Amino acid sequence: MSRRNQTFVCQNCGGASARWQGKCEGCGEWNTLVEEGVGTGVGARPTGPGRPPRKGRKFALEPLAGEAHEAPRLPSGMPELDRVTGGGFVRGSVMLMAGDPGIGKSTLLLQAAAALARTGHRAIYISGEEAVAQVRLRAERLGLGAAAVELAAETSVEDILATLSEGKTPRLVIIDSIQTMWTDLVEAAPGTVTQVRGSAQALIRFAKRAGSAVILVGHVTKDGQIAGPRVVEHMVDAVLSFEGEGSHHFRILRAVKNRFGPTDEIGVFEMTGLGLREVLNPSELFLSERDLGSPGTAVFAGIEGTRPLLVEIQALVAPSTLGTPRRAVVGWDNSRLSMVLAVLEAHCGVRLSGHDVYLNVAGGLRIAEPAADLAAAAALVSSLANAPLPADAVYFGEVSLSGAVRPVAQAAARLKEAQKLGFARAVVPEAVRSEATDPGLALNGVGTLLGLVSEIAARGDKSRANQRRSGPDCAPEDG
Ligand code: TYD
Ligand code: MG
Repeated sequence: MSRRNQTFVCQNCGGASARWQGKCEGCGEWNTLVEEGVGTGVGARPTGPGRPPRKGRKFALEPLAGEAHEAPRLPSGMPELDRVTGGGFVRGSVMLMAGDPGIGKSTLLLQAAAALARTGHRAIYISGEEAVAQVRLRAERLGLGAAAVELAAETSVEDILATLSEGKTPRLVIIDSIQTMWTDLVEAAPGTVTQVRGSAQALIRFAKRAGSAVILVGHVTKDGQIAGPRVVEHMVDAVLSFEGEGSHHFRILRAVKNRFGPTDEIGVFEMTGLGLREVLNPSELFLSERDLGSPGTAVFAGIEGTRPLLVEIQALVAPSTLGTPRRAVVGWDNSRLSMVLAVLEAHCGVRLSGHDVYLNVAGGLRIAEPAADLAAAAALVSSLANAPLPADAVYFGEVSLSGAVRPVAQAAARLKEAQKLGFARAVVPEAVRSEATDPGLALNGVGTLLGLVSEIAARGDKSRANQRRSGPDCAPEDG
């Protein structure tokens, strides 16, 4: 093959380059370019000088107005999974289930396949990683031994497609995982981006043709050496990400992309000895191990998608010996923490420049809402002032750079969830308090962050006065 026919493909992002480079220009990863033959990519047509371009075929253009069909859905029988997909698997669609190795993707999908098979649909589970006996063993452990799921341990896409086209069309096909699949159409080595892409394309064509719902499992790896499923993300209809902290038993399923449904819903699961259990009321779970009455914790009334969710935000503010104090966040946005800290310094007279600050969202949840600002600020000040917040209060509200506390969406749903879980009061933006009708719990409206800080500091002074008066370390300078 002449040199002109060679191309180097990044195994992380799929970007192509004409020559080898240490660093991929597309994604900035190092040592990810691998030489692959150019005409071997799927869809690559032999072109070049001397070959006339193919004459195009005309097709009819349609008006925007016209008959629209609701995508035919196939409920999985697992409500938390259906919530994330938007009501079930869509026939003829392809979904990528991405997640760290060991997070529980195979377990979840085996349970989903069994649930679907139980309703009389044909479900096929193809494992490229485990032997049939291993999958059986797991099914037995999950109590699904009797489910009519059809199993195979295969990695050749051509063999798989030949098998799938035989007999009754399967409703659900699970390919575990796309990284182990290889197709003859592509000459590249198994596991490379070109192979992953080629195999995915063949399976997507099958899904569209046969009308089956196909789920591809994709391992996410931090280092770019192994072909990541990122290249597949653009090709599939939906990308679900299965997340969780290794040490926690909660697992969160999140739609990252969804052509047929919402992308802001989450499904909450708990990994137990008997597989994944659906958590229908996640607030109870996230608050279950709460340590009541210790300084630095605040309960945030959040919204994930359409569902209210109460979580504990924990802060630790401690004097630092470092020139540049530490700022560490788990489960929240780093730049939002910096913003809240800056507002506390600039408008509330809370001096944090000599303190290390740690912020953690309990239970391994990740919060993206600005509505968590107020709860985070309350937790931070509570820790600094060594003043526990009331155990029966929830917090929500967005903090603006001027120090004002701004209202947030869906206040009523947040308050209702807090009331349901036995909270007696809510610290909310002033505008929410004045507009609330029949909130069901006591509302404490705050107009500016300074108001909240003074209140917490006063609690701290009081509790210190009660215990032998130690030196104050948080004194908001009014003004
Ligand atoms: P698995 O589904 O194999 O993960 P993935 O396919 O994402 O790589 O799950 C692996 C982990 O789940 C494993 O460490 C053991 C744990 N597990 C349980 O705790 N309980 C169970 O019932 C099962 C089947 C697995
Ligand atoms: Mg697996």
